[in-house]
Amino acid sequence: MVDAAGVVAIHAAERVAAAVASTAAAAAHHTSQVQPRLERVLEAFAAERVGAQHFASVSGYGHGDQGREVLDRVFARVLQAEAAAVRLQFVSGTHAIAAALFGVLRPGDRLLSLTGRPYDTLEEVIGIRGSGQGSLAEFGIAYAELALTAAGGVDFDGLEDALSLPTRMVLIQRSCGYSWRPSLSVAQIGLLCERVKALQPGCVVFVDNCYGELVEAQEPTAVGADLIAGSLIKNLGGTIAPTGGYVAGRPELVEQACCRLTAPGIGGEGGTSFDLNRLLFQGLFLAPQMVAEALICSELVATVFADLGYAVQPLPGALRSDVIQAVRLGDPERLKIVCRAFQAASPVGAYLDPVPAPMPGYASDLVMAGGTFIDGSTSEFSADAPLRDPYVLFAQGGTHRAHAQIALERALVALAAIGQDRTD
Ligand SMILES: Cc1ncc(COP(=O)(O)O)c(C=O)c1O
Repeated sequence: MVDAAGVVAIHAAERVAAAVASTAAAAAHHTSQVQPRLERVLEAFAAERVGAQHFASVSGYGHGDQGREVLDRVFARVLQAEAAAVRLQFVSGTHAIAAALFGVLRPGDRLLSLTGRPYDTLEEVIGIRGSGQGSLAEFGIAYAELALTAAGGVDFDGLEDALSLPTRMVLIQRSCGYSWRPSLSVAQIGLLCERVKALQPGCVVFVDNCYGELVEAQEPTAVGADLIAGSLIKNLGGTIAPTGGYVAGRPELVEQACCRLTAPGIGGEGGTSFDLNRLLFQGLFLAPQMVAEALICSELVATVFADLGYAVQPLPGALRSDVIQAVRLGDPERLKIVCRAFQAASPVGAYLDPVPAPMPGYASDLVMAGGTFIDGSTSEFSADAPLRDPYVLFAQGGTHRAHAQIALERALVALAAIGQDRTD
């Protein structure tokens, strides 16, 4: 005899099983992309003659660290860029992006965002929010935004007007961030690069590449972006990089970003890797597989919540340019319930109850389900949301699709318990 709770659990398992079945073609597609991405990674390792001797690093200043130098060149090849700097000293994607912005821009320059309001943590970097912390605005860098269209796309028609003033750099955010908008494909980024260069050939195209790495066949640096940046506890860290970030692109711009990270004169030539290079190489080796698994987890999240009647972005099976799956839950209580269920299905801290709380860099309180081995890692299965209307959950990561399946079953049970699963 199955009790009421048992029936709910069976329904949840059936729903998730149905999602697995209906996403089979998408899952097969994502899996098929592992081989070409891994080939690129292996070619880079082979071309740079990666050996066990590169796992160690030089202590102290870190001058002449061969492991770091080879790692930089390997990342540059994988990112289809001329140069890269991969550093554990970047504490996050925000830090790597800030180093790129402060490194390249000078007082009197103009920065133009082509993708509307940038990600929350960049507001204080740019100086749109807060004061007294040495933002770009406080250093005399003007900032403007080209608003997104009503559909959340780049306003290509408004580009010429927006670039009517001399502009040193345009900022393109590939991933949606905490906005309800489609992420930009690499092809769209390429088109934007072309348009920007036609209007202002000297303008630096910078792409916030967070969450996009290895999702498509090409990176923005292969289609005209001058500089990109991202985090190693996202896609390229393969779930095992303990921290860090990267910048990649034209050598002189990468070096300017490094001069901001370290000091003018030191640039990319200093900074130990704390003997952790192996984790960065191994993470990159694993990254194609982890990214594919994360994409499959996203397909499952999209399908399960779309079947319940919630708006999701992107739709199941749609073209993806990043690993993020947005679900418009429309209510703070549902956000908390889903995060609680995901947290309870996490390997680390399953006993914790995620509660909305302030977080450095964010204006809104955030609720996060992130029971991950690397703290804050979003390449492991996780979900988070700013506590603001329209209460969108952003899920991402996942090292095995089975983990997402378990977490989704638990979320369905939890939603059913409060009658919010939109079932009949
Ligand atoms: C589009 C985008 N840019 C930048 C960031 C900031 O990355 P980090 O949390 O590593 O600082 C995020 C984080 O989610 C993001 O989604």
